[in-house]
Amino acid sequence: MPTTQEIIGQDLAHLWHPFTQMKLWPGEPPLVIERGEGNWLIDSQGRRYLDGCSSLWVTVHGHNHPRINRAIAEQLALLDHSTLLGLTHPGAARLAAELARLVPVDLDKVFYSECGSTAVEIALKMAFQFWQQSGRPEKKRFLALEGAYHGDTLGAVSVGGMPLFHQVYGPLLFDVDRLPQPHCRLCGLGLSHPSCDLACAQALEPILRRHGAEVCALIVEPKVQGAAGMIVQPPGYLTRLAQICRRYDVLLIADEVATGFGRTGAMFACDLEGVCPDLMCLGKGLTGGVLPLAATLAGQRVYQAFLGEFEEFKTFFHGHTYTGNPLACAAALASLELFAETRLLEHVAVLSGLLARGLERIAQMEHVVEVRRQGLMVGIELAADKDSGLAYEPGLRMGHQVIMAARGRGVVIRPLGDTVVLMPPLASTPEEMEHLLMAVEASIAQVTEGRA
Ligand SMILES: Cc1ncc(COP(=O)(O)O)c(C=O)c1O
Repeated sequence: MPTTQEIIGQDLAHLWHPFTQMKLWPGEPPLVIERGEGNWLIDSQGRRYLDGCSSLWVTVHGHNHPRINRAIAEQLALLDHSTLLGLTHPGAARLAAELARLVPVDLDKVFYSECGSTAVEIALKMAFQFWQQSGRPEKKRFLALEGAYHGDTLGAVSVGGMPLFHQVYGPLLFDVDRLPQPHCRLCGLGLSHPSCDLACAQALEPILRRHGAEVCALIVEPKVQGAAGMIVQPPGYLTRLAQICRRYDVLLIADEVATGFGRTGAMFACDLEGVCPDLMCLGKGLTGGVLPLAATLAGQRVYQAFLGEFEEFKTFFHGHTYTGNPLACAAALASLELFAETRLLEHVAVLSGLLARGLERIAQMEHVVEVRRQGLMVGIELAADKDSGLAYEPGLRMGHQVIMAARGRGVVIRPLGDTVVLMPPLASTPEEMEHLLMAVEASIAQVTEGRA
């Protein structure tokens, strides 16, 4: 077993970390995570940390779950990998049937890939090609929200709306029309909810009235814009978008990569408003957070447009080497069984109540300007001045300071700028939830108020 120092040495020599300014890496000695046990991560020194970010929003039933491990091991003994190009295998077929049963009605065709970005890329390409093959080739434009995040491949970046991440790639991207961000506290329309009558959603109507004939699809993170800082949409927002899309025959793509699989309190965020999109992107929690697998789901209307004789070339010419990997499918099937057996959504409802109560305390803190929550997705926004909402100087990296302080209290979390994000595993216990809340409250007090 290499020593911690040897691992760090190899890391410093060769690893380029995601979303990381490598000049500043690691700053402080990095944690070397060697083991996972339930909702805890264990480092090379044997120290334990509650996984408060679900290892980047993926962990559902906890790490190293015996049931998921067994399913993977059993699958490994049978078949490690086999392509879905020209062949099929039981896991991919069974999982597709399960997903089709779980998601809102009408989405009964499943196309696999490996990560959220590719699930989005596939949805964009499907939407585009759908219109090309449905006698409406002029429908080419995409609509998305300000502050959207849909992944890091170029199509996903095109529909993304976070200048910090996306601006530099501008010349490579396709044009996208934007809807205002549904962030009530900072309403760009200067209105307040509910008297606004969802004007931010209603803004879609004039755009489609003028340009609907050229618009292919609207893509949205349903109910919560995650990477933007857990921006929770007002009730009815998603429904309104869906209604307007229908009226103007524009496809609705629901990017449930972050919100899917119980995160928001329902199996899918769309369920919270009974919305049935035309395409749905799934990833992250699909395998319980154990192996990389993603899926893009389509309804019959979209699917039928791709059917034809061979020489018509209506095929969806897209596929990845590891598409529908059997091990990942086995993990996903075991995870879905656990959802039912452990009545996980009921447990999430209990945890959501605990979180809501604990967050009331945090919301009162001197430098907490807003707490946003939907199910087990939480954003705690810090500000230099609570009343005016004046932000801290970016160089202070207050969010980063808070998460480093939380590490000292046995919690791993990640910030989005100065928004502290909490995304505990869905199977967290009430005691673990309390530990998370206490550590976060103490860390915010330490960093923003200088309290020990
Ligand atoms: C809404 C949403 N879509 C897509 C992605 C991209 O997923 P991945 O990182 O697996 O490519 C993310 C990642 O955070 C996401 O939050």
